[in-house]
Amino acid sequence: MSPLVQLRGVEKYFEHGVSRTYVLRQVNLDIAAGDFVSIMGPSGAGKSTLLHILGMHDATWRGEYFLMGRPIHSMGKKDRMEVYKAHFGFVFQSYHLLDSLTVYENLEVPLTYRNIKRSERESIVADVLDRFQMVGKKDLFPNQLSGGQQQLVGIARAVVSNPQIILADEPTGNLHSSQGEEIMQMFKKLNSEGTTIIQVTHNEKNAAHGNRIIQLRDGWVETQ
Ligand SMILES: Nc1ncnc2c1ncn2[C@@H]1O[C@H](COP(=O)(O)OP(=O)(O)OP(=O)(O)O)[C@@H](O)[C@H]1O
Ligand SMILES: [Mg+2]
Repeated sequence: MSPLVQLRGVEKYFEHGVSRTYVLRQVNLDIAAGDFVSIMGPSGAGKSTLLHILGMHDATWRGEYFLMGRPIHSMGKKDRMEVYKAHFGFVFQSYHLLDSLTVYENLEVPLTYRNIKRSERESIVADVLDRFQMVGKKDLFPNQLSGGQQQLVGIARAVVSNPQIILADEPTGNLHSSQGEEIMQMFKKLNSEGTTIIQVTHNEKNAAHGNRIIQLRDGWVETQ
């Protein structure tokens, strides 16, 4: 069986006039279904860039990316978005909540991708609000929340539709350590139920919750 994720010779660079700045270089990576991977490395190493390629937010790279054997690199934008919506939950480093929607509405968005009827959506969102202790915040807009609360909503949005793969960029960077630990325990539980998790973290303790660490340095994968 092919691995869940297969990257072959993935490169990303920016061009400035005649020179090129490489952000990722010849990345070869296999991730199996059920892995819990932590991507680590210094600031600027390319961690977010790699996660955005995996999450199909970025299409300006070279190389091959197979997801469940399907060649993402040769798909158009529309097909990639369909694959993303069907299989992924993404926690952004900078939250990326929709400013004009309330907390409740932000959490409902991924469920609208899944053909889930309204009454069911209501009960799933209510359950997630409860789990994240955010029931009292459901009608507020993102700019009425603290940074940590926005981060929690960002995590809740990534898990609400029970996706096969969760990509999380520094998901606990703005949380108190005990809240961060709760999120790691939630990820571990989801992982034990079959969800594949790929997180970026600077925190050794968070990384240790996974089964595998990938080190990035200056765009190179150092150890696997
Ligand atoms: N538009 C751009 N032009 C040139 N370089 C860019 C551009 N966007 C990003 N980069 C570079 O890409 C590199 C990798 O950035 P990335 O956000 O992936 O780092 P990171 O490992 O996630 O860092 P951090 O831990 O600080 O989040 C950085 O050196 C950054 O300067
Ligand atoms: Mg980053």
